[in-house]
Amino acid sequence: MERYRDKPRECPKGFYDVVDSKKRRGWDHRWAMYTILLRENIRNRRVLVVGCGGGTDAFCLCRMGAEVHAFDLSPDLIAHAKGTAAMLGVHPHFKVMPAESMEYEDESFDCVVVAAALHHCDIPQAFGEICRVSRPGALVVIDEPYSHTATQSIRHSRFVEEVIYPRVADIVFREKERISSPDETKLTQHDMAYIVENLRCARFCYFKLLSNRLFPDSIVPLVKMDRALLALCRPIAHFCAGRVLIEGRVGK
Ligand SMILES: C[S@@+](CC[C@H](N)C(=O)[O-])C[C@H]1O[C@@H](n2cnc3c(N)ncnc32)[C@H](O)[C@@H]1O
Repeated sequence: MERYRDKPRECPKGFYDVVDSKKRRGWDHRWAMYTILLRENIRNRRVLVVGCGGGTDAFCLCRMGAEVHAFDLSPDLIAHAKGTAAMLGVHPHFKVMPAESMEYEDESFDCVVVAAALHHCDIPQAFGEICRVSRPGALVVIDEPYSHTATQSIRHSRFVEEVIYPRVADIVFREKERISSPDETKLTQHDMAYIVENLRCARFCYFKLLSNRLFPDSIVPLVKMDRALLALCRPIAHFCAGRVLIEGRVGK
């Protein structure tokens, strides 16, 4: 199949499931992000990955046939991403730069993907750059940690910090990293409003009510129930969700 022309020489099992699998996992924000991207025809289109880290999304988008450009603030992560790309046999164009001042020309991308990077950035500046480098009508997909300011103040209350959190943290995070960097604050309802106001046909979907808070997101049946509960509580989802997936088009 033409789609597999870029088949990697060596690749961990399941690495491309998020792109290749016909069965979709709608309860998982990352899979939901790829469901949006798979609906769009991005083959041979110029796609930008903002804050690409080790490059996983860049590789998956290459797999979908896009011409992928990806950048990150960290030279180490870009060096690592380049090594992985060589191992996988894919060819994204990697660069090191900040999202707040991109080196790309105006209106040069058909699609922009941001996963867990925007909340590290100056949002108006980075989002302004995303709009500048996108062609009118370009698809923008943003998948970020989120917390309403009211929920955030409960999370940082003395009771939760000192009594609840220490008891659940080991269960929820296990060996996973749980220390946030100092520049890291989740997207708030105000950031969301700003982004959504500046996109055309903006739609958003919330994830993680209790998942990653009271139980680990590796327990799939609980994660499915969690997502169903959030869908049922749609009117109040923006108060209690821990993750948001936003899609929209550039240009008013
Ligand atoms: C949580 S990681 C997510 C990485 C990747 N998108 C993923 O989903 O695996 C956040 C990434 O954003 C990058 N980052 C943070 N601030 C940035 C900025 N101002 N401009 C570009 N990248 C930034 C970090 O270096 C890091 O790789």
